[in-house]
Order: sequence, then structure tokens, then C-alpha cells
Amino acid sequence: MSDSLSLTLPDEAATAAFAQRLGAVLQPGMVVFLHGDLGAGKSTLVRALLRSLGVTGAIKSPTYTLVEPYVISGIYFYHFDFYRFVDPDEWLDAGFDEYLNGSAVALIEWPERAGELLPRPDLELSLSWPVDATSTGRVLTLSASTATGKKCLDQIAPTR
Ligand SMILES: Nc1ncnc2c1ncn2[C@@H]1O[C@H](COP(=O)(O)OP(=O)(O)OP(=O)(O)O)[C@@H](O)[C@H]1O
Ligand SMILES: [Mg+2]
Repeated sequence: MSDSLSLTLPDEAATAAFAQRLGAVLQPGMVVFLHGDLGAGKSTLVRALLRSLGVTGAIKSPTYTLVEPYVISGIYFYHFDFYRFVDPDEWLDAGFDEYLNGSAVALIEWPERAGELLPRPDLELSLSWPVDATSTGRVLTLSASTATGKKCLDQIAPTR
């Protein structure tokens, strides 16, 4: 059982296909970090994941609100984007610690900006551009740091 996995996502459709596979194996209570520079495709992936689970309304980027909530089959999904996060007091004032309550799924862009306020992630996704400048698309690396995260990885790539 490996703890990490790298995939090439040649286009946005490939990102959406991966997001659907991930969405199908996420468990309540999981914390997922999404790393990658501006425009790397974090929101694209989250949006496709939420759509594949049946979200039909608008899926807004949480850039300004820091969080957008969704309820899917009775499970809360919180899409966070901490790019603009500055003040740890904001964390408590907004009650973010209560969002990460063990029964909701948290999908977190720019987790590094919230520093140590965040719990340990089950899964970390890193999106980047291919090193070979002639290729298009993105490279996605997944790593798991909890048993729950590892189980998801194995379900996504059972033939590794
Ligand atoms: N696999 C892919 N191949 C090529 N283009 C992609 C792929 N996935 C996403 N994109 C494109 O890259 C852009 C990514 O934008 P997106 O808002 O998802 O980035 P982000 O990582 O969330 O950025 P930010 O840090 O600003 O929130 C979009 O224009 C999208 O169409
Ligand atoms: Mg984004």
C-alpha cells in the first residue's frame, strides 16, 4: 500500500473525471488539502467533485467568503479558500473550528495560509504544471497521511 500517487490530467475533462472518482470515495469527517499556485486548478477540481455528487446550484469560489457550504445527502461539505486569510481571530469569529467537527468533509484551498489552525489532513492534493513546457494540462500528486486517506487512495488506484 503506497501513500502517494501521481497522475497526469491532460485537460479539464480529465480533472473532472478524477474529481468524480475522488468524490465517490470520500468519507464524512475527511479533511482534504489542495495545494498549487494560482490557476493550478484547485477550484476546478472541487467544483467538478461537488457537481459529480449532485450539487446543481451555483458553485461560487470561496475566495472572498473563505468558505462555501454544501449539503449532499445529509453530509456537510465545506469548500474553503484561505488565500485571503490574514487574522487567526477571523478563524474563531467565523466558527471555522466548529465546521471541522468530524462529520463534515472539508476541501481546503490555500491551507498553508491558515497555518496551524487546521487539523491534519487525511489527503493532500498538489496540482502543478508539467515540467515539460510542450505539454499541456496538469500534474496531480496525491498523498495520504491517515488510514482513512490511504484507504481512499487505494480505492482510487486499486491496481497500483
Ligand atoms: N487538467 C487541466 N488541464 C488544463 N487546464 C486546466 C486543467 N484543470 C483546470 N484547468 C484550467 O486552469 C484554470 C484553473 O483555475 P482554478 O480557478 O481552478 O485555479 P485555482 O487553483 O483554484 O486558483 P486560485 O489559487 O486562484 O484559487 C481554469 O482556467 C481551468 O479551466
Ligand atoms: Mg481556487
